[in-house]
Amino acid sequence: MPIREIRHPLVRHKLGLMRRADISTKHFRELAQEIGAILTYEATQDLPLEHCSIQGWCGEVAVEKISGKKITVVPILRAGIGMLDGVLSLIPGAKVSAVGIARNEETLAAHTYLEKLVSQIDQRLALIIDPMLATGGSLIATIDMLKKAGCKEIRALVLVAAPEGIAALEKTHPDVRIYTASIDQRLNENGYILPGLGDAGDKIFGTK
Ligand code: PRP
Ligand code: URA
Repeated sequence: MPIREIRHPLVRHKLGLMRRADISTKHFRELAQEIGAILTYEATQDLPLEHCSIQGWCGEVAVEKISGKKITVVPILRAGIGMLDGVLSLIPGAKVSAVGIARNEETLAAHTYLEKLVSQIDQRLALIIDPMLATGGSLIATIDMLKKAGCKEIRALVLVAAPEGIAALEKTHPDVRIYTASIDQRLNENGYILPGLGDAGDKIFGTK
């Protein structure tokens, strides 16, 4: 499974701001959307194009448009919602498949509580979005669900990834490409990423 850490200076800067303990809910939200947009740009670099011709202001003009598969964005609720607008700012026509997964705080096991996938998912590229890849349980459960529904091409965008989660994904779904703003150091004894961002869902929704 290829993992790509996006080392663009804007990403490094924005992620550094997100790590501040005293960041406001507003600022954290804005940065999650902005980095979400940059990761989308990176994850869509190889979308196939086709040539076509349109009527321009001076007559017929040859242009290009994205061909082939359409995209479904798959936010993992809740925290994935915090990247959704940023992703849709670049691909506004994408359909959204919402997946609800909660991590049990004691066992760290991923529990699925919602599955709202769009139609014709077998013909779409799925872009899963979630700020945090920790043990990998939530992402693995989402990929299992998408593959069971027939989805053939899946990519994941995460703000921060832990080596433990990357290794778990490598074992279970080596075909899924992951784009991240940072590969961090490790998980702590409670399954939180270090240095990480803390609880991303709580920071996005202002629940703590
Ligand atoms: C967080 C995060 C991921 C998951 C990562 O969500 O947004 O979905 O944990 O951990 P994992 O890789 O060990 O599965 P959480 O379940 O806390 O819910 P939330 O989105 O409501 O904050
Ligand atoms: N979920 C979070 O929000 N943060 C982590 O570090 C791990 C899981």
